[in-house]
Amino acid sequence: MVCGIRHLAVIMDGNGRWAKAHGKPRLAGHKAGADTLDRVMHWCREAGIRHLTVYAFSTENWKRSKDEVSGLMKLLGTYLRTKEKQLVKDGVRFRVIGRKGDLSAALQKKIAQVEEATKNGEWNLNVALSYGGRAEIVDAARKLADSFAADPAARAAFDADPEAAFAKCLYAPDLPDPDLLVRTSGELRVSNFLLWEIAYSEIYVTPTYWPDFDKAEFDKALEAYSHRERRLGGRLK
Ligand code: IPE
Ligand code: IPE
Ligand code: MG
Repeated sequence: MVCGIRHLAVIMDGNGRWAKAHGKPRLAGHKAGADTLDRVMHWCREAGIRHLTVYAFSTENWKRSKDEVSGLMKLLGTYLRTKEKQLVKDGVRFRVIGRKGDLSAALQKKIAQVEEATKNGEWNLNVALSYGGRAEIVDAARKLADSFAADPAARAAFDADPEAAFAKCLYAPDLPDPDLLVRTSGELRVSNFLLWEIAYSEIYVTPTYWPDFDKAEFDKALEAYSHRERRLGGRLK
């Protein structure tokens, strides 16, 4: 099936509430959420979606309890160790977007290693970690200012096409903008995710918690997308 979506972005929300509803610790919800991610990757490939970007940990999530943060970081490390071979085998290019420098040295090392091992993959999984849309824009602005200082041609390139030059300074400039942004757990907000990139993304929110997001839910999101008119500010004939 080809759904016309090149890039799907997902705010994987509701792990904590799912855990609570099942009388389990929050971390059990995050573990179940990691399994959902595996399934969604598979469905994306079946649907011909080549880029998947998922929000796993925001710049604001550091405010959570020490136990939850360390549990999540441990889970990320385990995820990378256990999935690395499969990612390579499946031709997945794994990338982290976000302030990687906020993560532990060990996790940064593992991420760099998996990014390197998967760099030739043709299918893209981008995991947003210590990610904030505002942080990304601020980091891009800093990068741009540094380039002006280092290279006079950078200023000319910016003046010629400011938005394109700015977008080149984002964390993963080669990615197309998301066509569809899905948020689970019913919250009607973007919570600082991909602020620049979702300018014209279609948005789909389901009340289902992320661990319960199944194939029927995935198909419903794609179905909803198929009925959207993407005018991009213009007019359809
Ligand atoms: C999303 O689930 C995962 C992360 C933010 C790490 P939550 O942990 O936010 O789950 P809820 O929103 O409390 O249910
Ligand atoms: C957004 O969810 C971040 C991730 C899913 C990783 P949050 O649960 O942190 O967002 P809020 O607090 O509901 O806005
Ligand atoms: Mg949440």
